[in-house]
Amino acid sequence: MSAPILPGATIGVLGGGQLGRMFSLAARNLGYHVNVFAPEDDTPAGQIAYREVRAPYGDLDAVQRFAEGVEVVTFEFENVPTETVEVAERFAPVRPAGALLHMTQNRVREKTGLLRHGLPVSPFAVIRSPADLESAAAQIGFPAVLKTAAWGYDGKGQRRVDDAAALRAAYMRLGGARAVLERFVPFVGELSVVGARGLDGAVALYEPVWNEHRDHILDITLCPAPIADAVRSDALELARTVLEAFDVVGVLCVELFLLEDGSLIVNELAPRPHNSGHVTIDAHVCSQFEQQVRAVCGLPLGSTARRVRAAAMANLLGDLWREGDPCFADALKDPGVRLHLYAKSGPRPGRKMGHLTVAGQTIEEARERALAARTSAACRCEEPSWTSS
Ligand SMILES: Nc1ncnc2c1ncn2[C@@H]1O[C@H](COP(=O)(O)OP(=O)(O)O)[C@@H](O)[C@H]1O
Ligand SMILES: [Mg+2]
Repeated sequence: MSAPILPGATIGVLGGGQLGRMFSLAARNLGYHVNVFAPEDDTPAGQIAYREVRAPYGDLDAVQRFAEGVEVVTFEFENVPTETVEVAERFAPVRPAGALLHMTQNRVREKTGLLRHGLPVSPFAVIRSPADLESAAAQIGFPAVLKTAAWGYDGKGQRRVDDAAALRAAYMRLGGARAVLERFVPFVGELSVVGARGLDGAVALYEPVWNEHRDHILDITLCPAPIADAVRSDALELARTVLEAFDVVGVLCVELFLLEDGSLIVNELAPRPHNSGHVTIDAHVCSQFEQQVRAVCGLPLGSTARRVRAAAMANLLGDLWREGDPCFADALKDPGVRLHLYAKSGPRPGRKMGHLTVAGQTIEEARERALAARTSAACRCEEPSWTSS
């Protein structure tokens, strides 16, 4: 095993979004420097970084210089092109490895990989051209969900379809992109497990959390998930299998559907900290971001124990800015509210601008207080500075 990369060293992050921002905060707290590589400037992560390098992912000379200047590279943006990661890998260790990123960038590769390791996924068919529509529909049935094979996130590039005509129309709107048709899963709930695996193969798992989506975007996370012990241990076992099967070094999240009979289906993987894991910043001993720092630097993993009885996380999307700047002073009137804003300019509907976390005696109490805080933020403090376009 290679020697740990110790505080004082510089970590490179590909991607400039909020995940990189919270990673950078955790890394700086541990005494590391962080260099961020992103195609934009003044990014949420770049604001916290030691250096922000602005270049397109396709500028492979810039990627080489970036990787030469750091001791390890990780990523916060899942759709970093494969060539970019391959170049970085020649000059610095990339953790998790580019091969994992490559697999999770494409739903077909990801589901095939999961099936190979005996993990449960919902039935799916690959659609390469309109000629495949009929057989896919016959194989999967309706209702179904059509998803682009690549580049989807936060519900983008996917649509529920209830019959053949809707499927054809939805597929045509994708403009010829490769897609998967998935059977619609009548889940009773959505869970996720964030876990980490160290360079030495040690695994640390956070307990499953309960996720509520709105318009296919995560809205609320409740921790701990209100589930039976058997479901909890199955979810943890699935996550451990994924981390070990794919030889992950870093943090990974497994998104799960919970069925009525208590069984679980893997929806998708994210080879990085996850929105549902933001709750760990305020509710657990070691946050998912510190865990990522430790894992990619080859340090021992931190404790995933919860520090509070229950917690709820509510996302703050750009929609909250619709009537003007939100009233965060009002949201903070409950002294238990922890506010995290990503300092993004240009709020847009559906854009993740921040989140807030509340700890409570029960998840119900925490959820109610988180929602109340968000609602108070939505009141109008000032004249609208932004209107939806
Ligand atoms: N096959 C399905 N059956 C039912 N709901 C689904 C299905 N696939 C996705 N969804 C819903 O859409 C959300 C987002 O889908 P997901 O595949 O996780 O895409 P993204 O990459 O955008 O997160 C899921 O969390 C779930 O709420
Ligand atoms: Mg998802």
